[in-house]
Amino acid sequence: MATQFESADVSALIKRYDRPGPRYTSYPTAVEFNEAFDAEAYRERLAGAAASVSQPLSLYVHVPFCEERCAYCGCAVIATRKRDVAETYLEYLAREIAMLASRLGARRRVVQYHWGGGTPTYLTPAQIAHLDATIRRHFDIADDAECAIEIDPRVTTREQIALLRRLGFNRLSMGIQDFTETVQDAIRRHQPESLTRSLFHFARETGFESINFDLVYGLPRQSVETFRRTLASVVDMRPDRIAVYSYAHVPWLRPNQKSIDPLDLPDADGKRGLLGAAIDAFTSAGYEPIGMDHFALPDDELAIAARQRRLHRNFMGYTTRPAPDSVALGVSAIGDVHGAFAQNHKTLARYYQAIDRGQFPIERGYALSADDRVRRHVITELMCNFHLDRKSVETRFGINFGAYFAVELEKLSAADGPVADGILEVTPRALTVTPRGRLFVRNICMTFDRYLASHAGRPVFSRTI
Ligand SMILES: C[S@@+](CC[C@H](N)C(=O)[O-])C[C@H]1O[C@@H](n2cnc3c(N)ncnc32)[C@H](O)[C@@H]1O
Ligand code: SF4
Repeated sequence: MATQFESADVSALIKRYDRPGPRYTSYPTAVEFNEAFDAEAYRERLAGAAASVSQPLSLYVHVPFCEERCAYCGCAVIATRKRDVAETYLEYLAREIAMLASRLGARRRVVQYHWGGGTPTYLTPAQIAHLDATIRRHFDIADDAECAIEIDPRVTTREQIALLRRLGFNRLSMGIQDFTETVQDAIRRHQPESLTRSLFHFARETGFESINFDLVYGLPRQSVETFRRTLASVVDMRPDRIAVYSYAHVPWLRPNQKSIDPLDLPDADGKRGLLGAAIDAFTSAGYEPIGMDHFALPDDELAIAARQRRLHRNFMGYTTRPAPDSVALGVSAIGDVHGAFAQNHKTLARYYQAIDRGQFPIERGYALSADDRVRRHVITELMCNFHLDRKSVETRFGINFGAYFAVELEKLSAADGPVADGILEVTPRALTVTPRGRLFVRNICMTFDRYLASHAGRPVFSRTI
């Protein structure tokens, strides 16, 4: 059976739309962050956030360590086997936690609590328990909070899983990528399926409410045939959620990717075939597509929110529990506080130096303008819900949508634009991405991005398809 991604018509669209573009984990994207936004600016934002005492928070903790760096990895990682490095890191993290909490005054209630990496389970059980206790001493993690952690099944023990559950973590995200050995060779990540399967079943037995698997398509040596086997195994295990990310090949930003032979990478058509196989496998097994790259079982809260068009997204991914401010702890972590993004230093040395000086370890950030906020809302709605209600934007921001976005609407409706291509519908009431347009949602959002033109011709973003 041909899928919506297998027609010649879609193939032509892919050729047209496959170009570098942001993933919009934030708008403006991190490329716009600058050093004019410093620790002092961050303190001011925190003071503003502290005033909204009754509002909940999202809290992210970055644990950057991995034993080895996978060749394909695009995350902020420090590869080391020296365990004492983590011990020192945790000491500084504790100081940052205390500093942050004191600035937030009485505003301590957390509804979304997330540990990411790197690999948080690089930490020993004692270190995990200690870090969690430090955070809970300073913050009030709500009883019904979403408490999530990213784990690498290759280095995670049953003891760690059981401990995390006891500590109150209720969501796990497991890195898988692809079970095929030739692909695992090419990405320098050896992870037997049996190991993943047994850890998954153990996590289920310990009572994790929701388990997510991460897969990546577009990896070196991946073929539709072998990827289908991985997909079948994944569906057979039946995680609650599945993320299937498009491989972002950005060797100019991540030198570890230079060891990947570009000739081993599937082209845009090859990637379309891989994504088509994933969509087929997941939808025929009863999963529903969620925003970009994600799938969930119909009774999962993300799937319910997606059906009701009330999905949200922040640096931690899709969520049903939006908090107006996200605070982020640890090296390279990015927060979103009182209308500004703030990113911590990316090297341990600088992160430590700032904390030793008694300062927030802010490297750069960005204070959103009124226009940025309108565009951020538009882009987030399209990325999450594939739908934008024009009236709600007008009410929320006090603008006339048609007048404010006259140039963008003209581009979208041009003879060679998204509307003519059948990937977007524009009516006086709403903008709606069509089912076959979902693959191109990043391209549609790019029309609303004021900053893209200034990066034209420079290698900044991965490709959209
Ligand atoms: C921090 S890792 C997950 C936890 C753990 N470190 C692991 O690898 O199992 C986050 C996820 O990002 C995704 N990822 C990493 N590098 C990527 C890249 N270059 N392009 C697309 N996705 C990538 C992978 O799916 C990975 O599981
Ligand atoms: S993919 Fe995960 S385990 Fe591999 S280097 Fe990146 S963060 Fe570490």
